[in-house]
Amino acid sequence: MIQLRNITKSFGSLQVLRGIDLDINQGEVVSIVGPSGAGKTTLLQIMGTLDQPDTGQIIIDGQDVSKLSRKKLAQFRNQRIGFVFQFHQLLPEFTALENIMIPAFIGGIGRKEAQRRATELLEFMKLTDRADHKPSELSGGEKQRVAVARALVNHPAVVLADEPSGSLDSQNKDELHRLFFDLRDRLKQTFVIVTHDESLASMTDRTIHMVDGCLTSDESSESLLSKKDATTMNSPSPSFNTNSIQDEKQ
Ligand SMILES: Nc1ncnc2c1ncn2[C@@H]1O[C@H](COP(=O)(O)OP(=O)(O)OP(=O)(O)O)[C@@H](O)[C@H]1O
Ligand SMILES: [Mg+2]
Repeated sequence: MIQLRNITKSFGSLQVLRGIDLDINQGEVVSIVGPSGAGKTTLLQIMGTLDQPDTGQIIIDGQDVSKLSRKKLAQFRNQRIGFVFQFHQLLPEFTALENIMIPAFIGGIGRKEAQRRATELLEFMKLTDRADHKPSELSGGEKQRVAVARALVNHPAVVLADEPSGSLDSQNKDELHRLFFDLRDRLKQTFVIVTHDESLASMTDRTIHMVDGCLTSDESSESLLSKKDATTMNSPSPSFNTNSIQDEKQ
């Protein structure tokens, strides 16, 4: 799904990434943890093609991204990569529904289909009654759920999230984290999540530790199956038919 080979990156004389090799499989929820300044955000931005490495190769969904022209790369990013940031970054003048529809419009999806997808995602996020609210009329947790819906609207190969629950209180945090595992279980959605939240990291399928620009350890969850069962059992009952999204992904 994602292959990184010997990724290096410096800002001036500061070497921030020192030869990163990493493989991420479809349907995995992977967390990246490590001290401030370790290079986590830089790595995520490079993985998301928002920044370029000095050396190395990035293959996402079979595509070597360095081989794409600027325009094709922007298209690829729109189609295949979803982003969730610490602060939602929703557009303030648009409603929740419109914010979710925007990446679909950019990707050339017609209004009717974009609206159908956005409505379905809002329902999945249990936010149907907030569809017409602007970001300033939503709670922090609601805004982040809209941001996740926006990241999903084009059915990306991977969702990259940089401290997605960093600005939330513990209840909204838990709810957002459950949502990631729900999406993994139902849609086989792949997530790479940079987080300082130990409870989230402990729930993910793999935790990658990063120190000073290097990956120092890569722990797979030993009891993935039992963890999955636990998160599924804790999830609210499905009110959303994910089959249509699933079908379109194939
Ligand atoms: N555009 C830039 N120009 C110069 N230095 C940068 C730039 N972006 C990041 N850095 C430096 O690179 C290092 C790694 O930054 P990065 O944001 O990747 O860290 P991080 O692991 O995400 O930290 P945090 O947990 O605090 O978010 C830091 O020392 C930072 O100051
Ligand atoms: Mg960071």
